[in-house]
Amino acid sequence: MQLKLEGRRAVVCGASRGIGRAIAGVLADMGASLTLVARDESALAAVAARLPGGAAQHGIRAVDFLDTAAVSRAFADIAGEGPVHVLVNNTGGPAAGPVFEARPEEFADAFRQHVLAAQLAAQALVPGMRKSKYGRIINIISTSVKEPIPGLGVSNTIRAAMASWAKTLSRELAPAGITVNNVLPGFTSTERLDYLFRQRAEKSGGDIEEIERAALAQVPTGRFARPEEIAWAVGFLASPQAAYINGINVPVDGGRMASL
Ligand SMILES: NC(=O)c1ccc[n+]([C@@H]2O[C@H](COP(=O)([O-])OP(=O)(O)OC[C@H]3O[C@@H](n4cnc5c(N)ncnc54)[C@H](OP(=O)(O)O)[C@@H]3O)[C@@H](O)[C@H]2O)c1
Repeated sequence: MQLKLEGRRAVVCGASRGIGRAIAGVLADMGASLTLVARDESALAAVAARLPGGAAQHGIRAVDFLDTAAVSRAFADIAGEGPVHVLVNNTGGPAAGPVFEARPEEFADAFRQHVLAAQLAAQALVPGMRKSKYGRIINIISTSVKEPIPGLGVSNTIRAAMASWAKTLSRELAPAGITVNNVLPGFTSTERLDYLFRQRAEKSGGDIEEIERAALAQVPTGRFARPEEIAWAVGFLASPQAAYINGINVPVDGGRMASL
C-alpha cells in the first residue's frame, strides 16, 4: 500500500516544532504542498526550507491562536490561495496545574487557542474541501480525552471540548466526503513533555529523572514516542485509503491507557 497526497494541499498548525513539525515532514514526504502555521516565523521558515520541495513548494503563516481576529484573517488568506484538502489542527498545550486552582482566563484562553482556532480554520477551509471532493480534518488532542490526566486541569477540560466538537463536525461533514478524526498522543519526546516533567519536579521538589522513570513505567512499550510515530498515524488518516474512517479517536500511546 502506498499512501500519497500528490496534488493535495495541507495546512499544518503548530508546525514550528514537536509533533506538528514531524507531521509536516510526513505529509510533505507523501507529496502534499503545505502551509505551516505557528507564531514563530523564523522557525516556520527553517522547517519549510528543510522539507522535500523546500520553500518553493511550502508556505508559512505566522499567527497567534490567542488572537481570534488574526486567526480569522490568516485562514481567510490561506483559503484565498486555493483549496486546502487536509487540515491538521494542533497547537501548544495549556499550562499544567490542578483544575481547582485554574483562573477563568486560563479556561477562556485555552478555549480560544484550541476550539475557536479549529472552528475558524474549518469554516474557512471546508468550502474548498467540498469543491474538491476531498477533505481530511485531523486534530491533535491527548489521551486525556479518554482518561483525564491528574494535574492537567485546564488541558483535560479543553481536550474533551475539542473531541466533542470534532465528533459533531464529523457527522455534519461526512456526506461531503470530508472526515474528521482525532489523534491522541501519549508521552512523546518534545519540548511539551520536557516542560511537563520540569513542572512536576518543581511542584513536588522531586528529581526530574525519577519523574521521567515513573512516567516510563506507565508505558508497556517501555519508551516514549518519537514525534514521527504520531505523524505516521496522521499521514494515514490524511490519505485516500482512510476515507471510511470518520469521527474516531486514535490513541498513539505505546499501550499506556488501560481503558478500551
Ligand atoms: N508531547 C506530548 O507528550 C504530548 C502528549 C499528549 C498531547 N500533546 C499535545 O499535542 C500538541 C502538540 O504537542 P507538542 O509536544 O508537539 O507541543 P510543543 O512542542 O509545545 O509544540 C507546540 C506547537 O504549537 C505552536 N503554538 C503554541 N502556542 C501557539 C499559539 N498561541 N498560537 C499558534 N501556535 C502555537 C508552537 O509554535 P510557536 O511557539 O512557534 O507558536 C509549536 O509549533 C499539544 O497540544 C500537546 O499538549 C503532547
